[in-house]
Amino acid sequence: MILLVKSGGEAAVPEWREAFSAALPALEVRWWDDPVDPADVRYVLVWDPEPGRLAKLPRLKAIFGSGAGVDNILADPLLPKHVPIVRCVPPEATQRMGEFVCWAVLSLLKDGRRIGIAQAARDWDYFEPPFTAPERRVGIMGLGAMGSRAAAMLCGLGFPVQGWSRTRKTLPGVQSFAGDAELPRFLASTDILVCLLPATPETRGLIAAPLLARLPRGAQLVNVGRGVQQNLADILAALDNGQLSGAVLDVFDPEPLPPEHPAWAHPRLIVTPHLASLPNRRERARYVAAAIAGHERGEPLPNLYDPSRGY
Ligand code: NDP
Ligand code: OXD
Repeated sequence: MILLVKSGGEAAVPEWREAFSAALPALEVRWWDDPVDPADVRYVLVWDPEPGRLAKLPRLKAIFGSGAGVDNILADPLLPKHVPIVRCVPPEATQRMGEFVCWAVLSLLKDGRRIGIAQAARDWDYFEPPFTAPERRVGIMGLGAMGSRAAAMLCGLGFPVQGWSRTRKTLPGVQSFAGDAELPRFLASTDILVCLLPATPETRGLIAAPLLARLPRGAQLVNVGRGVQQNLADILAALDNGQLSGAVLDVFDPEPLPPEHPAWAHPRLIVTPHLASLPNRRERARYVAAAIAGHERGEPLPNLYDPSRGY
């Protein structure tokens, strides 16, 4: 039973092999470009397969994304539509995302960017952060696997938390807003906006001037969803004119963010290189191996991409 891997480059294959041999010894792990008979490949683990390659695997049983977002896989116009796509959401992924979102929100609360700039300049820049957690309402767009975990962890820090999703949620301590009609009310009552939405035609370009204008003046932004969801020029303009007082961006379009881009040096913006939540290879191999073993026994696959919703 062959699993083809395209995640982390060819150099990562020995580590994948070792992780899978511990978790599911029956699985033969091969690099994406290894010369194998396409008819022998049952599973793939991929981040960004070249268009058309998956369609050439006639007996493929499932496509495992190596991340939670599978937009790079969906970008393939020849994607074999009958093959299920499994999003990579082991418990370690949601935990790491919750930790990152808490770090980002606390960095905004304490003005970590200002502290970092002052330290680099050896400047004893004493100041008093104006708010405590209970005084800043965090609004999370996307209350799925990642957003709901982040919400619970932020509640634990004392932030009032609310979320916006397509369908209504009942999460302890989290006020739920649902659908486009409730977005304006959600934004008007959000001081720190966190984006944890999937990349879909509906969410593309959402974080732009019209949305930012609906936030209270001086609001803050964390985007850990996808770069295509944001208009970076609009975010920089909002930081310059005071509509936003700070931001943490982990995702960009394109990635990496080009070295000459003004976003790198903006004094109110923290740039991170798309590292909010990536479980290590051992954790991901354990998750994929358990899903394959279950699937071979006839059990349902976990965290399936749903084509009817587009995520
Ligand atoms: P889920 O599919 O579990 O959750 C998606 C959430 O977004 C759901 O609550 C869904 O609503 C909501 N949603 C989708 N479309 C809309 C819409 N048009 N309007 C309102 N709400 C919408 O995904 P995950 O939580 O697992 O992951 C979310 C995204 O986070 C990924 O797709 C990826 O882009 C990003 N990500 C980024 C990482 C990083 O390192 N920066 C790491 C991991 C993920 P409903 O619940 O009603 O269906
Ligand atoms: C993911 C990511 O989707 O790392 O998992 O962005």
